[in-house]
Amino acid sequence: MKRLQDKATIITGGSSGIGAATAQLFASEGAQVYLCDIQDEKGNLVCEEIIKEGGKATYLHLDVSSENEWTKTLTKVVDLNGRVDVLVNNAGIGGGLNNIEDYSVDQWDKTMAVNATGVFLGTKCVATVMRKTGGGSIINISSVYGLVGVNRGASYSASKGAVRIFTKAASVQYSADNIRVNSVHPGFIDTPQAATLLRNKEVRDHLIDLTPVGRIGTVDDVKYGILYLASDESAYMTGSEFVIDGGITAR
Ligand SMILES: NC(=O)c1ccc[n+]([C@@H]2O[C@H](COP(=O)([O-])OP(=O)(O)OC[C@H]3O[C@@H](n4cnc5c(N)ncnc54)[C@H](O)[C@@H]3O)[C@@H](O)[C@H]2O)c1
Repeated sequence: MKRLQDKATIITGGSSGIGAATAQLFASEGAQVYLCDIQDEKGNLVCEEIIKEGGKATYLHLDVSSENEWTKTLTKVVDLNGRVDVLVNNAGIGGGLNNIEDYSVDQWDKTMAVNATGVFLGTKCVATVMRKTGGGSIINISSVYGLVGVNRGASYSASKGAVRIFTKAASVQYSADNIRVNSVHPGFIDTPQAATLLRNKEVRDHLIDLTPVGRIGTVDDVKYGILYLASDESAYMTGSEFVIDGGITAR
């Protein structure tokens, strides 16, 4: 028996990085994957690769900051599958580096809209379906910077801190409906989102210095944690913070 056999799973931000790797792993563990993103071409390619490997995947365009688009996406998934067992709220943006006094309200609002409101909307829409079908697991991708502050990244930290505490509020409310809600807090992971930072040798070396295990993380380091939270193996885990950071926050 595979770890996610026949589970209907929605993964946002699935066209790239952590989301794409998670989608591939979920499909290899028997899940039906609904991969949602705004990068349509890349998302379709990820789904084609999954299908070529014998997995089940469908690409759906979804801007996570739009309630209207969430409603349409959910209608399609329920039409196709009748249920949703797992939601991975993974879509996110960096939000830009600025001192707080130089942040524009637009820049702040955009980061919050994707990283925080997107998680709220996904949870709101999908939990409504899960409640009717007996429960499920919601996994919200926060960051180490939802636990500690980052210099010049206040909108990102604020949005990821919101994801952390929203997760706890949702876990308390939805426990009675057999819906588990947990957050994941990756450290510095080599993905397109982090690429600009990691290309700069000085920055890369500094980030490695901040990481006790002495290297930048990979998508593989994170995806197995997400798989555990998605599977029934984590049945007693809700409202928790799953930190996968090479020890950054242990200092
Ligand atoms: N890479 C890191 O170091 C790191 C560390 C901690 C947390 N994270 C978080 O992990 C998650 C995945 O990031 P990643 O590093 O794989 O980055 P990535 O850029 O490779 O992937 C993010 C995906 O989200 C999608 N996306 C962006 N805005 C969207 C929107 N409005 N609607 C739908 N999809 C949208 C992008 O198109 C992209 O495919 C993010 O939430 C990120 O903040 C990343």
